[in-house]
Amino acid sequence: MIKKQIILITLVSSIFSQIDYTTQIQPIFNNYCTSCHSNGGAYFGGLDLSSYSETIEGGDNGNTVLPNDFVNSVLYQRIILDEDNYLFMPQDGSSLPQSDIELIEQWINEGALETPSLSSSELNFIPNNFMLYQNYPNPFNPLTVLCYDLPKNSSVRINIYDILGNIVCNLVNKNEESGYKSVQWNATNNQGEAVPAGLYFYSIKAGEFSLTKTMILLK
Ligand code: HEC
Repeated sequence: MIKKQIILITLVSSIFSQIDYTTQIQPIFNNYCTSCHSNGGAYFGGLDLSSYSETIEGGDNGNTVLPNDFVNSVLYQRIILDEDNYLFMPQDGSSLPQSDIELIEQWINEGALETPSLSSSELNFIPNNFMLYQNYPNPFNPLTVLCYDLPKNSSVRINIYDILGNIVCNLVNKNEESGYKSVQWNATNNQGEAVPAGLYFYSIKAGEFSLTKTMILLK
């Protein structure tokens, strides 16, 4: 009986652990972004981050938050860039704390809602399929981010190969829990040396799943 209650409590509290925009995401934007992105975004690409509706409305180039798709959300792409990249946000600042970046990632994954939805069908902590996404940015120099999805706990290997198929870097080789994952590559080989400009392959093996994609290092 007690066991059942504990299970129920854990279940309910995990549903409530969904991200709430007003108390968890807006404070991040207030701390790091609204000094520039407010007043209807008059000065900066039309992007106003001072309220939920303004944030979702996006900027002059359209939505910067795509619900359930953090990888393709410009807002997310901009905050994970290297600080030296001219597209990096917050412009003129330093990287958001990793915990804030993860909150934004989880918020977008859950559908970029204003208040947590209690319907379990909208919970989206665990992806449905294995996936390896196109790296971002691409072309890059020297930092790029590879994102991938693990629908279940898996032993994961991500290797980088040069155009001749030689292994350049064993980037990931470990057991990982299910979820939305990302890893950075700084264009160095296994010896820590910078690699030359050119075309590279990156491939993932996770359980039975494998996929290879290409990326371009420009110098
Ligand atoms: C010091 C001022 C400044 C700060 C602080 C700042 N930005 Fe920006 N932001 C800009 C400028 C200027 C642009 C337009 C030029 C560009 O696209 O890089 C921009 C553009 C953007 C864009 C692209 C808009 C579009 O429509 O494509 C996004 C997304 C963005 N910022 C997100 C953020 C986020 C998130 C934060 C806080 C973590 C932030 N910015 C903090 C100045 C700033």
